[in-house]
Amino acid sequence: MSDARVEEPRPDPATSPNEAELAEAGLRLDVDGAIATITLNRPERRNALTFATWRGLAGIGESLPDGVRVVVLRGAGPSFSAGIDLGMFSGGGFPDGADAAASDRFIAGLQESSTWLRRPEIVSIAAVHGHAIGGGFQLALSCDIRVIADDTKFCMKEPALGIVPDLTGTKPLVEIVGVNRALELCLTARTVLADEAARLGLAEYVVPRADLDKTVDELVTALLAVNPGAAVATKRLLLEAPGNTLEEQCAAERREQIGRLRELFGSQNA
Ligand code: CAA
Repeated sequence: MSDARVEEPRPDPATSPNEAELAEAGLRLDVDGAIATITLNRPERRNALTFATWRGLAGIGESLPDGVRVVVLRGAGPSFSAGIDLGMFSGGGFPDGADAAASDRFIAGLQESSTWLRRPEIVSIAAVHGHAIGGGFQLALSCDIRVIADDTKFCMKEPALGIVPDLTGTKPLVEIVGVNRALELCLTARTVLADEAARLGLAEYVVPRADLDKTVDELVTALLAVNPGAAVATKRLLLEAPGNTLEEQCAAERREQIGRLRELFGSQNA
């Protein structure tokens, strides 16, 4: 495994989507110090996701201010997200199918809407209520922590529509519920209610709908109370763990701890 402490260069903040682009993407972004809140904001379409939404999410990730430590993703109106905007579900906008490389690049671009939510520099929280279908479910799965309301309905609907889940959701789904349960959920495209989601580990918190915002606020406060450098190093360490042998993970723990001790007490002690 490569050295996980190598920092990715932060992309050019000039790519930040402007207000008009965010509005067209059905997104709202509120940055308050260390907290960025992204609201999926097309409630009249149940926050259905368009190519503009995915590009907007990627742009937010690329241009996130350095001081942001927690990102909260939420949905306006009755649902978190009804998944892909079915008005676009015709292949329109998709590059010429004969050019596999162009199609690959196109989907890779869409996937950038969610990959950045795993960055060690931030903790991402999905605050989910109502329906989280297809791309909406995958977006929630891309976050580090899911706080869900008791009216949540998860559904991986893609196979029922003849496609596969391709917005980075299959890896976390399998890591959380295992291959067999993931297969059952995807190939039946059935709805998972909040209680079952909690039992399967798909949610870290299940709360009454009225308590969703308060619970997220308390979680954010707790996360921000932790030493920022320790938070980044610990997330990096935990993300590495599933792919590492015990020996590799022990080495990673030593490496991260030496970095922390140097940071806290100066290089002469570590
Ligand atoms: N795309 C476009 N419009 C949508 C939409 C979607 N995915 N989901 C809902 N809407 C629209 C409805 O057409 C309706 O519009 P009108 O008011 O003009 O009639 C409006 O939003 C409200 O919808 P409902 O009246 O159906 O609201 P509801 O609260 O009763 O039901 C729902 C909500 C269960 C989400 C239902 O709307 C629904 O089943 N939507 C479709 C879900 C779906 O199949 N999504 C695709 C998943 S696959 C995927 O996401 C693939 C991928 O990312 C790559």
